Amino acid sequence: MSVLAINGGQKTRVKPFPRHPIIGEDEKKQVLEVLDSGNLSTFIASVGEHFLGGKKIREFETKFCKKINAKFGVAFNSATSALHAAVVSVGVKPGQEVIVPPYTFTSTATSSLMHNAIPVFSDVKKDIYCLDPNKLKNVLSDLTKAIVPVHLFGHACDMDEILSIAKKHGLKVVEDCAHALGATYQNKKCGSIGQTGCFSFYPTKIITTGEGGMVTTNNTNFFKKISVLKNQGMNITPEKREKTAQWRYDIIDIGYNYRLDELRSSLGLSQFARINEINKKRIKIARKYDQLLSKIKGILIPIKKKHRNHIYHLYTIKVEKDYYLNRNELFIKLHKNGIGASVQYYPLHLMSYNKKLYKKSDFSNANILKDQIISLPIFPTMTLRQIEYVVSKISE
Ligand SMILES: Cc1ncc(COP(=O)(O)O)c(C=O)c1O
Repeated sequence: MSVLAINGGQKTRVKPFPRHPIIGEDEKKQVLEVLDSGNLSTFIASVGEHFLGGKKIREFETKFCKKINAKFGVAFNSATSALHAAVVSVGVKPGQEVIVPPYTFTSTATSSLMHNAIPVFSDVKKDIYCLDPNKLKNVLSDLTKAIVPVHLFGHACDMDEILSIAKKHGLKVVEDCAHALGATYQNKKCGSIGQTGCFSFYPTKIITTGEGGMVTTNNTNFFKKISVLKNQGMNITPEKREKTAQWRYDIIDIGYNYRLDELRSSLGLSQFARINEINKKRIKIARKYDQLLSKIKGILIPIKKKHRNHIYHLYTIKVEKDYYLNRNELFIKLHKNGIGASVQYYPLHLMSYNKKLYKKSDFSNANILKDQIISLPIFPTMTLRQIEYVVSKISE
C-alpha cells in the first residue's frame, strides 16, 4: 500500500501527462463485438453466411470521407503507408522530386523515398511553421512533381498560395493531415483541398485506432490506384469479389499490405463520434493557455490565422531569448516537475541519413525553430488545475 504524503510518502502532483488516448466503454464493447464476430479483417472468401469481414472498415471510410467533405476515403494501417500510396497515386515517378517541409515528422519525406522519388526540403514560415509559399519557387526544378504541405500542429498551411504555385507548375498536392483532423482553411476541411489528404490515428492523434491512417480524395482515378496499392496490387476490390462471388483476381501493379483491420476500424468508428467534442476541448484548453502564457515575457504563444480553425493537436510555444531559461533548460525543468512536455521537431535536413541525400537550401526558419520550440501537454481531459500548474512552472 502506498504511504500518504502526510506520513512521509511521496507528494501527489497534478502530473499533466498528455500521452494516453481516452478509451471508453464503447470502444471496448465495439472491439469485443468484432472479436466475437470472427470477421477480423477485409473479406477473404465467402462461405454461406460466414463472411463479410470489412464492414467496419467500409463504414469507417464512408463516415470519415463525409466528415472531410471528400468523395472517397481509404483506410490504411498508418499515415506513413497512406502518404506512400498517395504520393504514388498522384503520379510521382521514381527519380522525380517532391517538395516537403524540413520541419515535420520523418514520414512526410520517407513516403517519397519509399518510391525512389526525391524529397526536396523547402523552408517553413516563421509564424505558423508550415511550408513558406514564398520560398517554394527556389526549390522548383524540371523534376518537381508534387508538394506535401503539412498542416503542422493542427493549423492549416497557406493553401491558396500553395495551390496557385502547384497549378502554375502542374504539380499535385498531397496534404499531410496527420495533425489536422477537424482543422479547416477558409471553411474547407484539411484533407479536401489538395488532390489527396493523409491522416494518422496513432495514439497521440485526435482519434486513435492504435496504429492507423486514412487517405481522402475527390478523384476517382487516384481512389482506384490507392485502393490497388493498399491491397497487394489486386485488380478487384473485396466488395466486388463479395458481390459477384468471384474467386479470381489479377495482380495489376506493385502492391502492399497496407490494410487497416476490423478491430482497429471499430475503434476508429467509436472515437469518430467524439471528434468535434475532442477538438472543442482542445481549443478551450489552448485559449486558457493563451490567456495565461501571454503574460509571460519571452514566451510566444501559437499564432492562429484568420479563417482557419486550429485544432491544437499540439500546443507549441516558442521560447525566446529574453526568457530566463533556454528551451532545453525549460524542457528539463518541466520534466523534473512531472510535466510531459515534448519537442517537435528536430528538422529533417539535419538528420544523419538525410544529410547525405538532400539538396542544400535556405532553412533559416527551421534552424531557428529547432532551438526554440516546445510543446506543452494538451489532452481533452486536461483540467484547469493542470493547465495552471504547467503555466506556474513556466512563470516561476
Ligand atoms: C506530420 C506527420 N506526418 C506523418 C506521420 C506518420 O503517422 P503514422 O505514425 O500514422 O505513420 C506523423 C506521425 O506522427 C506526423 O506527425
